[in-house]
Amino acid sequence: MQLSFITPSAISKGAYVVGATSGNKLLPSAVEADKNAGGALTRALGVSRFKGKSGQVLEVLAPAGVEASRILVVGLGEPTECDGARVENATAGAIARILGAADTDATFAIDVPKGSKLKRPAVAAHVAMGARLKTYSFNHYRTKNLDEHEIRLRTLRVATQDVAAAKRAFAPLDAVATGVCLARDLVNEPPNVLSPAEFARRARAQLGKVGVKVEVLGESEMKKLGMGALLGVGQGSERESQLLVMQWKGGRKADAPVGFVGKGVCFDSGGLSLKTGQGMMGMKGDMGGAAAVTGTLLSLALRKAKVNAVGVAGLVENMPDGKAQRPDDVVKSMSGQTIEVLNTDAEGRLVLADALTYTQQKFKPQFVIDLATLTGAILIALGHENAGLFSNNDRLAERIFAAGKEAGEPVWRLPLGPGYDKLIRSKIADMKNTVGPTSGSIGAAQFLQRFIDKTPWAHLDIAGVAWQDGEQKTLSPGWATGWGVRILDRLVADHYER
Ligand code: BES
Ligand code: MN
Ligand code: ZN
Repeated sequence: MQLSFITPSAISKGAYVVGATSGNKLLPSAVEADKNAGGALTRALGVSRFKGKSGQVLEVLAPAGVEASRILVVGLGEPTECDGARVENATAGAIARILGAADTDATFAIDVPKGSKLKRPAVAAHVAMGARLKTYSFNHYRTKNLDEHEIRLRTLRVATQDVAAAKRAFAPLDAVATGVCLARDLVNEPPNVLSPAEFARRARAQLGKVGVKVEVLGESEMKKLGMGALLGVGQGSERESQLLVMQWKGGRKADAPVGFVGKGVCFDSGGLSLKTGQGMMGMKGDMGGAAAVTGTLLSLALRKAKVNAVGVAGLVENMPDGKAQRPDDVVKSMSGQTIEVLNTDAEGRLVLADALTYTQQKFKPQFVIDLATLTGAILIALGHENAGLFSNNDRLAERIFAAGKEAGEPVWRLPLGPGYDKLIRSKIADMKNTVGPTSGSIGAAQFLQRFIDKTPWAHLDIAGVAWQDGEQKTLSPGWATGWGVRILDRLVADHYER
């Protein structure tokens, strides 16, 4: 799809998209379009449930004499609440309609609602961002009916008063969108194709060429480092476990890096504590945390972020086999602490334990944030709307919360505390990897905290947001959402660039 910014002009061919706010207040370009269409919009509004609310779309087939094929009015809701995420969502709503039609051309003419804090170039940039995120597709494995699935939209124009400023505002968002799309590709990829080694190869190929230093440790190197927790998870797989280490050096030489750690379980069968057939479906996506970290490093590099950042992904496959780790095994982590593995399906925390220790010891980051599709329990607590946030540092937690809100990837904080830490006491080792029937997500976070020294740390449990079923209508068109890239990039941009 060709995306360009243009100065406002008359309605042109294809779909023409304008905006309205709550109570059906048409924005100036919409008023203009209505006039050109002989009042067709006003008439349509009069016979529709459309009220200009956020998320609503009104579609009008253009009357004779108008060059456009259709005119769409998207709702932006209350002007004071109209932020970047809302503009992206409104755009996505229109794009969904356009993709369902046969249009190959679209022009967006969405003005700044009076009272919104957004500036004109920002609105245009977020329209372009929403369009990029919503026109993602993953069709590599279709050999038939491609015409049903292919994105037909070829040309998308965003009308704005100041083309140069809009381009400048879009450049960093464009980088983020590319990072999101990489994360989605990795999560969508089937597990027979995307082994730990293949994940690492792709990261090297994509990130190496934009200046990210990529290193990959294999099993023998990890053994030397004492990563018994991570290696235990991978030992039932035919495929070699990998530790992917990505460094972006855009800051001052002496600045401590920001640290991101991702759970990269390329397939989670549960191991000997085998999942059910139903429970295993979708477990190719259990590397969503690693994908988000990889996408974030790509985004930071593409937009040449003035920060030092390190991304570490623990890449393994959790399989049952004669060599697989058993429930009751005790493993020794890189930190020196021992873990009684009572359930081989609670494998993510084992992988993260060693990846977190490695990241802190090797890079002395100013903070470390891990992302993981860690627990089914977080879906019970928060559903698909929010990721779970856990942290040992209020300032970091508040910054992450705010970044999530801004970026359209909201998080909700859950507690940690000594009472919960008791839940992971083991009868024979330093800790066990399971908790009782309650507070499963907190117990998992409590486990991770045992591997944090004094570094400010946050854990994002993304099991409910990394992928979606068919009913959810989000900015993300397919299965994988690429969740995490936008919030992490926003956090860095808001607080950690020099
Ligand atoms: N990868 C799963 C968590 C998960 C479940 C992610 C559903 C997305 C959707 C994780 O490794 C897991 O199996 N967790 C167990 C932990 C339990 C055995 C203590 C869980 O949540 O049931
Ligand atoms: Mn598991
Ligand atoms: Zn898992």
